[in-house]
Amino acid sequence: MRSLFLVATVIAAVVGTAAGAVTVVTGAQTAPAKTLWDGLYTDEQASRGNAVFNATCENCHTLDSQGNRPLSGKKFWDSYTQKTVGDLFTFIQKNMPNGNGGSLSEKTYADLVALVLKSNGIPAGTTELVPSEVAAIPIVPKDGPAELPAGALVRIVGCLAKNGPDFVLTSATPPQRTDKTGTAPDDASRPLGEKSITLKFLLTKLDADIGKRISATGLLMGAGGINGLNVTTVTKVADSCP
Ligand code: HEC
Repeated sequence: MRSLFLVATVIAAVVGTAAGAVTVVTGAQTAPAKTLWDGLYTDEQASRGNAVFNATCENCHTLDSQGNRPLSGKKFWDSYTQKTVGDLFTFIQKNMPNGNGGSLSEKTYADLVALVLKSNGIPAGTTELVPSEVAAIPIVPKDGPAELPAGALVRIVGCLAKNGPDFVLTSATPPQRTDKTGTAPDDASRPLGEKSITLKFLLTKLDADIGKRISATGLLMGAGGINGLNVTTVTKVADSCP
């Protein structure tokens, strides 16, 4: 166990250096983190966003869950669950209005994000949304992380086993949305879960790694990966598992 811990620490250190980060990675975050449901914007801000929306966005979008490129309901949660408020802000600022991204002020884009949150039943609060302050807040439904949609790029860590002809990850973590394939620094050390997921379209034989701890990235097949993971990368991260 000791050597595994060392490996994880060294990888974390190397990644930290590569990113030029000087923060010490301790995991000791004391202040309770704000969540999406803690009132990240004001009603007044969302009303300002609504005025801009009517003039600038409405010909291509509806704020409803059905109709012309809907910005609420299933479409919103499928696109943004486990992304961050910063991802939503950046997407709108860079790309919208479509073909004319970046044409509005930062404050106006923040107002539009407030409007999109409100349209999805996320409550208002007493302070206005400032993108830099809420960038890292994850977008998760009220009842906690929902199943990610089919096609989401995810990372899963678990123990490699065989089920008939298929390789599966058992005791696996819930799929976690990612924008990078390959391994993450804490793959060797993070707590495992209770999922079981079939690895599909593997290009390599993994027999030698059965019983070992594996980190896989790929595209979910079916909501939550009910039909498996269409594997992009698969890497042994520890010799023992769980
Ligand atoms: C000319 C048509 C057009 C206009 C105007 C427009 N959009 Fe879009 N919007 C699109 C298209 C097309 C997409 C899908 C693009 C993609 O997925 O890359 C999109 C995608 C989006 C998404 C992501 C939706 C999702 O579920 O992934 C958001 C949020 C969004 N637009 C917000 C806005 C806002 C806010 C405005 C007004 C400032 C706006 N759009 C104006 C055409 C438009």
